[in-house]
Amino acid sequence: MKTWINIALPKGRLGEKAYRMLKESGYECPSIEDPGRKLIFENPEKGVRYFWVKPSDVAIYVERGAADLGIVGKDILLEYQPDVYELLDLQMGKCRMAVAGKKDFRDPIGRTLKVATKFPNITLDHYNSKCRDIDIIHLNGSIELAPILGLSHVIVDIVETGSTLKENDLVVYEEIVPISARLIANTASYQFKDDAINAIRRKLQKQVESR
Ligand code: PRP
Repeated sequence: MKTWINIALPKGRLGEKAYRMLKESGYECPSIEDPGRKLIFENPEKGVRYFWVKPSDVAIYVERGAADLGIVGKDILLEYQPDVYELLDLQMGKCRMAVAGKKDFRDPIGRTLKVATKFPNITLDHYNSKCRDIDIIHLNGSIELAPILGLSHVIVDIVETGSTLKENDLVVYEEIVPISARLIANTASYQFKDDAINAIRRKLQKQVESR
C-alpha cells in the first residue's frame, strides 16, 4: 500500500518558500501552483498531500496527526510547546523575538512592567528568568500600537526587517531569541512512516547545506 505524507504548509510567504524547497527536492504538486480557493493538493505519484493552514495552526495539525509533517516558525514551537519532533532548521524565515518600546522609555524599576504581546509564554519565561514582575497584555496583532497609545510600557514581538518598529518610532531594547522556520513531524508518523519522512528530511537538509 502506498504511503501518503500529509504536509501542513503555513499560508503566506514562508509557506510558499517552503513549498519551493519541497518542489526542488522532488516533491512537486502542480495543482498547488494554481490554487483558487482549494485547500488540499495531492500528487499521488509522489505520495504527497499538501494543505494550507494558518501559520499558528500548523503545529496543532501535526501534533494531532492530521499532518505528518509541517513547516512552522520556532516562535510557535517556543510559545505552544507542542508534542512534535523538530527535524530540521530550514534556515529561512529568519527573524528575532525582541523587547521593544518608545525611544525615550526607561524601565520603571520597582513598578510592574506592562508588556503587550502575542506570545505570553515566551514573555513570561523571559521576565521570570530576570525575576522581573510584569503584567501581560495579550493582543492578537498590531502590537506596536500598545506603547504608542500607553496601553503598555513595552512589547515582546517578532522583528524581521525592523521597518514596522522604525516607521512607528519604536526601538529594540533587548533580543530574546533568534527565530527561523523548522520542519516538524508527528511523533507516531515518525515511527510508522520513517523511511518516507527521512527521505524528505535528508533532501531538505541537503538544500539547506548547499545554500
Ligand atoms: C509581524 C510582527 C511585527 C512585524 C515585524 O506582524 O508582529 O508587527 O511583522 O516585521 P518587520 O520587522 O519586517 O516590520 P504581522 O505582519 O504578522 O501582523 P500583525 O501585526 O497582525 O501581527
